[in-house]
Amino acid sequence: MSDVRPESMERITTEALAQKFIDEQIAEIRAQVGDKKVLLALSGGVDSSVVAALLIKAIGKQLVCVHVNHGLLRKGEPEQVVEVFRNQMDANLIYVDAVDRFLDKLAGVDDPETKRKIIGAEFINVFAEEAAKQEGIEFLAQGTIYPDITESKGVKAHHNVGGLPEGLQFELVEPVKFLYKDEVRVVGKVLGLPDNMVYRQPFPGPGLGVRCVGAITRDRLEALREADAIVRAEIEKLPETPWQYFCAIPDIQSTGIKYVNGEGERYMGWAVVIRAVNTTDAVKVTVPEIPFATLCTMRDQIVKIPGVNRVLWDISEKPVATIEWE
Ligand code: XMP
Repeated sequence: MSDVRPESMERITTEALAQKFIDEQIAEIRAQVGDKKVLLALSGGVDSSVVAALLIKAIGKQLVCVHVNHGLLRKGEPEQVVEVFRNQMDANLIYVDAVDRFLDKLAGVDDPETKRKIIGAEFINVFAEEAAKQEGIEFLAQGTIYPDITESKGVKAHHNVGGLPEGLQFELVEPVKFLYKDEVRVVGKVLGLPDNMVYRQPFPGPGLGVRCVGAITRDRLEALREADAIVRAEIEKLPETPWQYFCAIPDIQSTGIKYVNGEGERYMGWAVVIRAVNTTDAVKVTVPEIPFATLCTMRDQIVKIPGVNRVLWDISEKPVATIEWE
């Protein structure tokens, strides 16, 4: 099959056009797959979620979704995948708790590229192990979208931890491969996915792993996950949300003071960094204004997280800084 979007293909801008696309894809998927089984790595990101929802409509339980919780997802994400796909859509979902496996492999590793490689390789190992347990799989579904093809040397191809596992030689099912991101979102909406899945901000494949700067420790990772949830909740109350907003937690400590029985005691704690950026292409990035009151509300909650005693706001643009801290 060609990898070029047909010129005749209309841009999917409305729910009616999305519904037409869904109906066509359901017929195509059924014709391609027949009564065979399809495997899908379901991260909970927009693309894999839309592919899952489409395949569930087309072939129901012939789709086997595998959700690998590597411990580097944001607060509430693994639970939401189970809730939406298993409980609400009645999908055949295998939830793999691989948290210890990933964190043990990452222990003591501080080089960013090595961390990424470990996360990517371990993801493939876990996914391949789950695939080997399944009988009768003949197809592998993927959330490839058109920019992944046209910019295949781009961000996703370079970064994503969830590429085609080597050694898993299945025929591919890629129903959204000619769609742009905005089209995938319209389709996701019509398929009934929740807004916070359909419109979610970009999130790196290696997840919080690239934001827990340096060697990941469980306590610092948990502090980051809590801080990230606070920042997302507060920023989402603003009339306009930036393109991407999150926290990083550098592997540094600074002095804090706490009062015990009226006596001030100095101690060492972590600093959480708030990052919010605007961009159209992730190449050039500006930093939007965040109301000082919002910053203070976030600060007041973040300093209550165990181990954290300082909150910083990163106002660096790209270039010179990158969006992520690693
Ligand atoms: P940088 O940090 O290079 O990020 O300015 C540009 C965009 O890419 C995302 N990003 C990643 N996405 N895996 C991904 O899937 C990664 O390893 C990764 N690193 C950065 C980043 O969140 C931003 O949107």
